[in-house]
This record gives sequence, structure tokens and C-alpha cells, in this order.
Amino acid sequence: VDIVVKSKGGNETSSIPYGLMHEDINNAGDGGLYAELIRNRAFQGSKLYPVSLDGWKSINGAGLSIKNLSTPLSKALPSSMNVVVNSTKSKSVGFSNDGFWGMDVRMEKYTGSFYVRGSYKGAFTASLQSALTNETFGSVKVDSKTKQNEWVQHKFTLVPKKDAPSSNNTFAITFDPAGVSGGSLDFNLISLFPPTYKGRENGLREDLAEAFAALDPKFLRFPGGNALEGPDLANPWKWNETIGPLKDRPGRPGVWNYQTSDGLGLVEYLHWCDDMDLEPILAIYSGLALDGAYINETDLAPWIEDALNEIEFVRGAPSTPMGKLRASLGYPKPWTLKYVEVGNEDWLAGRPAGFESYLAYRFQAFNKAIKKKYPDIQVIASPSVFDNMKIPAPAAGDYHPYRQPDNFYNEFHKFDSLTKDNLTLVGEFASVHPNGGIDWSGNLHPFPWWIGGVGEAIFMISTERNGDRILGTTYAPVLRNMNRWQWSVCMIEFEADTKKTTLSTSYHVFQLISTHAITHTLPTTPSSNTSSLFFVAGKNEDDDSYVWKGANYNTTNHEATPVSVKFEGLRKGQKAELTLLVSSQGPFGYNDPAKGNNVVVTTTKTLSAGENGAFKFNMPELSVAVLDTDVG
Ligand code: AHR
Repeated sequence: VDIVVKSKGGNETSSIPYGLMHEDINNAGDGGLYAELIRNRAFQGSKLYPVSLDGWKSINGAGLSIKNLSTPLSKALPSSMNVVVNSTKSKSVGFSNDGFWGMDVRMEKYTGSFYVRGSYKGAFTASLQSALTNETFGSVKVDSKTKQNEWVQHKFTLVPKKDAPSSNNTFAITFDPAGVSGGSLDFNLISLFPPTYKGRENGLREDLAEAFAALDPKFLRFPGGNALEGPDLANPWKWNETIGPLKDRPGRPGVWNYQTSDGLGLVEYLHWCDDMDLEPILAIYSGLALDGAYINETDLAPWIEDALNEIEFVRGAPSTPMGKLRASLGYPKPWTLKYVEVGNEDWLAGRPAGFESYLAYRFQAFNKAIKKKYPDIQVIASPSVFDNMKIPAPAAGDYHPYRQPDNFYNEFHKFDSLTKDNLTLVGEFASVHPNGGIDWSGNLHPFPWWIGGVGEAIFMISTERNGDRILGTTYAPVLRNMNRWQWSVCMIEFEADTKKTTLSTSYHVFQLISTHAITHTLPTTPSSNTSSLFFVAGKNEDDDSYVWKGANYNTTNHEATPVSVKFEGLRKGQKAELTLLVSSQGPFGYNDPAKGNNVVVTTTKTLSAGENGAFKFNMPELSVAVLDTDVG
């Protein structure tokens, strides 16, 4: 295929072409990106997921039970763990926690805290140890500051003397039973953090955050997904219950089969944006629950006010009521917030009434109120024009294709007909079903797989070609804890053991495409694919480079496609770097966390433009490539 890239024309592309989407699914937040190591640290529960001692074990016969004391640690955390001791025994007693199915222990600084109520003379020992051999990797004495009738916080830091050989470890707190008056002590909010991304208190797990940062994302859509909506009308994601001290966060029943702590709350999401320079795309609750129940027009007003309060909390001046609240929590400086999405997938099948109400009044009511107070905010509706919904411009829509790779191949031109009045965010997308396989209602593929990734590359290229009307594109879900998950096709799989973090085939494809930014497209001849080869070309004004991105799908006779790319205006001898991705295991190859393999073979070459100024290379069947004149 001979491609000529014009030096002028094309369209400007969005300044946030690729980003991230996060919700607490698959223990992506608690036990995932949120770096807290202690599972069930504050005995949070609900009708759906009752309070329990899940994760906790007694040491040397201490009697553990859940108590709802008349003087709890806080209103938000009414339950605590009562630890009964026999003060005539001399062996130290206590309890351990097995973390989110293990704990990575390294010679680095761990920061911990726990609250105790009761009277104890002596010191507590906080330690990290092997669950297999009881070998202690590190411990610290924490002098008791307890008072009989008060909850007292104890803080400590701990540096293990060696790295643990595996993540089969526990964290323990022990103490001398002889020092306890009254036969028992009560504990709550027992927390332990390893070093976090950019050293944030209550921050993000380093290796996962670094993997995200390496995608050069430009936005973060949060806090869902379905997680925003909650399982029923009583339990949406309530922004004001996710802020402030951890002891004031009740947590809530998530929609993905577990209780969440909300330790990763609104401010932590905004810090994440700060630390990776991301535009927040804040999803606000629109009054529709995942069980299909929704708030009637007549009852919407408080929810609209709540959304306005949330926006004011994020970007209001410190003199505004919510800005004041933010400043009182230690954040006087407002954040920048340019994008707000109303709800999530309010079009979803099985929710006909909710869908109609969204069309009839809910979206309009939120949209009108937000635009009145914040005319500069780009409001995004949770459905898109591709869900048979007319989105009133200048609002954008949100499109979530979870598809077969062939669908992405067949629908390459889907976005070409979007008008300036059809701004669209792709807030979630992924190949999730094999070609010709079961459709949406069936099971998802066990992992992202190579041909799925090539389909995704074609899709990303199709959005980038229309980057003046596609606001941005992001894969979802991004994380899967291999110990508890419900959605198998995710960008990154992980366990407690950071050595087992697996970047999927889709991660590699996304990274190649997202890290070679263009600021505007350039017209090409041919203007679009004439064979199996799908491509986009453009210029990056920021570094004055020319970029071509292509994906080769099923070819005739499975042969490689010779490609020639000539950028008009570039001379013979001009250098460009070609990065080519193929699979070592064919279309169905995948990166398996159990094997720790990587089927993605990456080749990088510096090419020189030939006689006619063209770069020539071959693209094998099912390959993805980027050619970039920014050779560094
Ligand atoms: O990404 C998983 C789920 O898929 C999201 O929560 C929801 O928005 C979509 O249906």
C-alpha cells in the first residue's frame, strides 16, 4: 500500500485523546490501585455485605469478635474488633491480617496506624511476617498511649530487614496480656501503607500507577462505570462520604460483589489527576440505580443540588460553601474541572423506564443546572448518538463499545459521519468476545488476546482520525485483581505480589498508540484503507514531528503487506522510528499472569526516507505499527 501524507489540511485533534477510566471493580481500588495493605481494616459492612472478621486471625488464643460499641470510633465506623485476652498468660497475644490475599514485603518504609480503646500498659508490636514460616521480616514497638474510655490513634513506621521471598505474608499487632486492664481492648481502622506513587499519603500502589503513567494518559474518568450508580437507590457513590479523614468515611456496598472502603475517594482521584497531569472527567450521580430504580422528576432537585455541590467542592473558590469545606480539609486551592458526565450508561437495556426518564428530563435537568452555574464545563451525557439518543449540543455523548475484533474492523468508518454537534467521548471500550463467538450476553474472553488488541488498534485509529469530534478514548476496565474479580478482560492483571503484575496484549497496543500523540491529522491518499491496512497520519506541533499509525488485520493469503509512507515536504534521508508489534503466539496469544509471559514482540528500527522521500516497511498480518519522525 502506497500512502502519501499531505503537509496541510486535516483536523485538529482533541487535547485529551487517550486517558484512563477507573472504578472499583475486580478489587481495582481496594486491594488494587489504592495502596492500603490491610483488608477489612475498619470492619465496614452493609445489608448486602455484612460486617465480619474477614481477613483477621487471632494470635495465641486472643478472642476476636465484632462489637458495635455505644462509643464507636466514629459515626461512619460503628463496628470495631474486640480482642479478649487472658492476663495471666505470659505469651504475647494479638491478631494478624492476611491483606488482599497476601502482602508484598520489601526493605522499604511502611507507614501504619491503628486506633485502640481500653487500657494497656506496655508496648504493641507491629510486624510483617511470613504466613508460611512465621519468620518476621520487620517489626517495631509502638508505645501504648491508650486511655480507658477513649479511642486513641497509634502511628508507626516500619522498615523490614529483608525482602520476603513471596507475598504469602501477614501483618500482626501483638501485645502483652498482663498489661491489659479489663480483659480486652477494642481496635479499629488498622492501616498499613507501603511507599505510594509520588509519596502521597493515602495514595496509589506504585507499580500500577507507574504502568498507567507510562501510557501518557491525558484524562481520568471516574468513579465509574456502574460503581457510580450503586446497587440500589440507597447506595450510589456519595462524594461527600468519600472525603476527609478515613475515620469519617463509611464505605458502601459496591456493585461488584464487595463492600468498598472509599479510601480512594474524590480527593484521592483528584490527586491522581494532579500526579499524572490528567484532566478529570467527573461522573456525577444522575439518579439511576443499577437495579433499574430511578429518581422521579419531582424528586430530582436535591440530587441536582448535590451534583452542584460536588462540582463546587472540586473547583469552587475557597469563599464558597463547598470551597470552604474543601479548604477545611487542607485543600484551599481549587482544582480545574472542565468535564462532567451525567450518570453512566443510562441507556442500558433492561432499564427501559430509567432510559426514558433520562431522555425525558433527567439529563436535561442536570445539564441545565450545570451549564447555568458553570457555562465553561463540557457536559457529557452517559449515552451517545450510537445508542439511538439525540444528545443536545453542545453536550457530548459517551459511547462504550465492548465488542468482537471483527466489529471494530467492520465499523472503522463509524465516526466519520459525526458532526461538530455530536461530540463523543469513548469512556470505555475493549474487545471482549472472540469473532463469531457468543455475543454480549455470553462469557467474556479469559484475557485480552492478540487479535482483540489489533481490533482495538483499528478502533483507536478510527477515533483518532475523527479527533476533532471524539473527545477522548479509554479502555475499560483497567485493572483485575486475580484473587477476586468479575470481569476477565482488563488492561492489567495483578496480585499482591508486585512481581506478578501483567501488562496485557491490549496494554501494549494502547501504549504504542497513546504515547505517539498528534495535535492534528493530515489528509492521506488513499484517504482510508483499501485493504487490510487501517491507518491515520498527523503532525505533532509540540515537537514538530510527523506520525503515522497503522494496524494490519486479516490479509489475503496471510501475507505481510508492503507499506510505503511518504510525508509531503520531508526529504530523502529524513529519519523516522518504526515500532512494530506482532504476536509470537498468533491471533489467540495472550499474556497469562500464571505464566508471566509476554506474547507481544516489539521491534523498533530507525528508517531513512528513500529516493522519493518515502519510508518503506512490511507489516505482517495482525500487526500494529507507529512511524514517528521524532527519533529522540
Ligand atoms: O467496565 C465494566 C462495566 O461495563 C462498567 O462498569 C459499565 O459502565 C459497563 O457496562
